[in-house]
Formats: sequence, C-alpha cells, structure tokens
Amino acid sequence: MWTDPAARSTGVGRALVDEVVAWATGESVQLWVTQGNSAAQRLYESCGFVLTGDYQPLPSDPCKDEVRMRRA
Ligand SMILES: CC(C)(COP(=O)(O)OP(=O)(O)OC[C@H]1O[C@@H](n2cnc3c(N)ncnc32)[C@H](O)[C@@H]1OP(=O)(O)O)[C@@H](O)C(=O)NCCC(=O)NCCS
Repeated sequence: MWTDPAARSTGVGRALVDEVVAWATGESVQLWVTQGNSAAQRLYESCGFVLTGDYQPLPSDPCKDEVRMRRA
C-alpha cells in the first residue's frame, strides 16, 4: 500500500487498513512489510497487527528481507 506523500500522517493509511480489515473474512489478515520500514510497521502495529516471526527475501530486492504480520 502507498499513500500520497502530501497526505501522509493525516490518517489515510490507517483508514485504508481499517477498510481492508472490515472487508476481509476468515480468521486473520496477514501482510508482509519490508524489514526496517518503521513507518509502515508502526502503522500496522497501531492497527493491531503483530509480528509472526516469519520472514523471507523481498521479492523485488532479495538483498532485503520482509517480515510477516498478522491480525486475528
Ligand atoms: C506507510 C504509509 C502507508 C503510512 O501512511 P499514512 O497515511 O502516513 O499513515 P497514517 O497517517 O494513517 O498513520 C497511522 C500511524 O502509522 C504510523 N506512522 C505513519 N507514518 C509514520 C512515520 N513516518 N514514522 C513513524 N510512524 C509512522 C504511526 O503510528 C501513525 O499513527 P499516529 O499518527 O497516531 O502516530 C506511508 O508512509 C507510505 O505510503 N509509505 C511509502 C510506501 C510504504 O512504505 N508502504 C508500506 C508497504 S508494506
């Protein structure tokens, strides 16, 4: 996900995540975030996601890792 830089830190990202969670069905919502992307990780944590401990190479740049987060 991505929000316009001019609109950042105004709640757009949280609104997007809340909308996806409201739309989703099933036991959990899971996502991958690039390790070290603290802005994105904090956003997801503030929306109730927690790290699962799973990680894998970032598909677009395998020199980096991405970590899995989950919200029940
Ligand atoms: C990450 C991103 C989506 C956040 O979007 P946003 O619209 O700025 O997010 P919000 O305004 O809803 O912020 C919600 C929370 O996220 C966290 N957050 C957002 N930007 C942050 C920053 N620069 N530093 C630290 N925490 C940040 C905060 O916890 C914030 O809550 P608060 O305002 O109460 O402190 C946006 O910065 C972005 O598009 N970044 C580039 C693309 C990217 O990294 N996408 C994620 C890929 S997994």
